[in-house]
Amino acid sequence: MGWGLKQFFWAFLVAVVLFFNGLSYSEKAPAYTFVKEATSAPLVSFYDYIIIGGGTCGCPLAATLSQGARVLVLERGGSPYKNPDQININNFVNTLSDTSPTSFSQPFISRDGVLNTRARVLGGGSVLNAGFYTRASSKYIRDAGWNQTLARESYQWVEKLMTFEPAMLQWQSAVRNGLLEVGVLPYHGFTFDHLYGTKVGGTIFDKEGHRHTAADLFQYAHPRRVSVYLHATVKKITFKYNRETKRPQANGVIFKDEFGIKHRAYLSKKPMNEIILSAGAIGSPQLLMLSGIGPAHHLEAHGIKVVLDAPLVGQGMADNPMNVLVVPSPAPVEVSLIQTVGITRSGSFIETASGLSFGHSWAEKLQGIFELVSNQSGQTSKFSPEAMQSFADTIRSFANPTLKGGVILEKIMGPLSTGHLELITTSPDDNPSVTFNYFKEPEDLRMCVEGMRTIIEVINSKAFSKFRYPSMPVQALIELMINLPVNLRPKHLSAAISLEQYCIDTVMTIWHYHGGCQVGKVVDHDYKVIGVDALRVIDGSTFYRSPGTNPQATVMMLGRYMGKKILNRRFLHLRK
Ligand SMILES: Cc1cc2nc3c(=O)[nH]c(=O)nc-3n(C[C@H](O)[C@H](O)[C@H](O)COP(=O)(O)OP(=O)(O)OC[C@H]3O[C@@H](n4cnc5c(N)ncnc54)[C@H](O)[C@@H]3O)c2cc1C
Ligand SMILES: *[C@@H]1O[C@H](CO)[C@@H](O)[C@H](O)[C@H]1NC(C)=O
Ligand SMILES: *[C@@H]1O[C@H](CO)[C@@H](O)[C@H](O)[C@H]1NC(C)=O
Repeated sequence: MGWGLKQFFWAFLVAVVLFFNGLSYSEKAPAYTFVKEATSAPLVSFYDYIIIGGGTCGCPLAATLSQGARVLVLERGGSPYKNPDQININNFVNTLSDTSPTSFSQPFISRDGVLNTRARVLGGGSVLNAGFYTRASSKYIRDAGWNQTLARESYQWVEKLMTFEPAMLQWQSAVRNGLLEVGVLPYHGFTFDHLYGTKVGGTIFDKEGHRHTAADLFQYAHPRRVSVYLHATVKKITFKYNRETKRPQANGVIFKDEFGIKHRAYLSKKPMNEIILSAGAIGSPQLLMLSGIGPAHHLEAHGIKVVLDAPLVGQGMADNPMNVLVVPSPAPVEVSLIQTVGITRSGSFIETASGLSFGHSWAEKLQGIFELVSNQSGQTSKFSPEAMQSFADTIRSFANPTLKGGVILEKIMGPLSTGHLELITTSPDDNPSVTFNYFKEPEDLRMCVEGMRTIIEVINSKAFSKFRYPSMPVQALIELMINLPVNLRPKHLSAAISLEQYCIDTVMTIWHYHGGCQVGKVVDHDYKVIGVDALRVIDGSTFYRSPGTNPQATVMMLGRYMGKKILNRRFLHLRK
């Protein structure tokens, strides 16, 4: 097992790394007049809707609401348009692994010992992600209680501006044909729909490798009715007492600009006005707690005044485990991100990427990330100095690799295993402590094992044979993986002979974490926070399971969908 293999693996550890050399940004960024630095915000201002978090869900939501009301968006990160190269597919890893305080990516390590990240930029996760675009199943949409017509219209509204059909070249085609050969049938061709079998999905990268993000959806906004402030970090939501309903009522937010100056924004005195939390699966439960809505004993332990004892805030946190095999190839491969997907009946989704490479600077950055996050309070005690050292040593051994091959990964449906989120500090800038409990439920482990079996069959298939070294059996690929410190979890020799142990020991994240403010537990079916007035949560924190094979399409759809529903009700009310 050569050096190239190791390098190749690491390329996938933080992300799918792509260098499309020679490609350049050819499009003009939209010139939004309504996006400004928070330093220019008034100290006190009034709006109909205040949206916390200009992320994947917050952007389509705000653009839609601005069609009928005055909307404020407060986003803690900067603009994705400032430096177009930064969001080109070339810079996927550089952008993801930049750990400066102003970067788009805020790393964290879950208590499970897996490196993860949170978006911190206008457009949220859609500015950092691998770009695969695919809808939720119709069963998922039915189970969520969504209006199917409005859901379809909302997906289409997003797709019109943001999605492309990927070029299916040799590696992606071989994996697709391998999936068909081993029985992941039927073949559906290119489609956004979630269907059993094998298909090609959409991508938010255009032919030039330029990323289209949720921030682009502001092209649909009414420019004079929306204000977007960047580097605006919301510290808390404020409440007053509603004498009629005898409940706390959200009435404003306190946010700070990049100089730490405090600003206040309030809801203007009109009926139906609301604050909407769209800060993502980590940010939304965290900010509810910082605002006094959460488990009372936990809030009191941090000296936070309790507005509402809501024990289920921060519960139901889940992250779909990702397990991979790295496959070096004797034949040249194209550079590709996720394009084809196998949707198996056993509950795992098979995806692939190829032609990955990364630079030395990235390896150094990775070491920095681990040092940074392991220094965070509550993390240091969890992981042994030996594990950290082993990580650091491996990372240090990298130079600039040029690699041939790809990675075949599986993500399990759901998952069923869940964990929880707790505050470490009372600063909105700090990561809370998050536990996902990967594979706690035996069913999750079964799905992973089935998924690994499918990957192994694909690697051994006739359709794929051109991309496999005959001298390198799957067992060698398995042993490579378990000998690398892919995470900070304990390692077992039996991982080489047991796929169960392999799944547990080599688990990584596919960044589809969700939960923390689930529908029916923290919010009702209209996404209104249960027990208070004028406050909703709309984003990935409301999900029980990750939608589709990959979530972003449905997260954006939900923003548009709820924006339409909220406006419809506002108009009905005003007409009365
Ligand atoms: C590396 C990576 C690869 C991925 N690959 C794919 C893929 O290929 N396909 C796919 O479908 N999905 C993918 N995903 C997942 C997908 O991008 C996310 O599920 C989705 O972006 C989550 O959207 P959200 O609106 O819930 O949260 P986010 O998009 O994270 O939005 C939350 C926003 O709130 C802001 N915020 C948080 N706290 C505050 C505060 N206190 N004050 C002000 N603002 C705040 C944040 O800065 C952020 O912009 C990937 C994710 C990552 C990170
Ligand atoms: C569902 O949405 C469509 C499209 O917006 C709308 O015409 C229809 O009335 C909605 N159905 C229900 C039951 O609300
Ligand atoms: C982590 O902590 C150590 C020891 O306190 C310190 O020397 C180091 O600079 C810190 N690293 C980072 C990246 O903060």
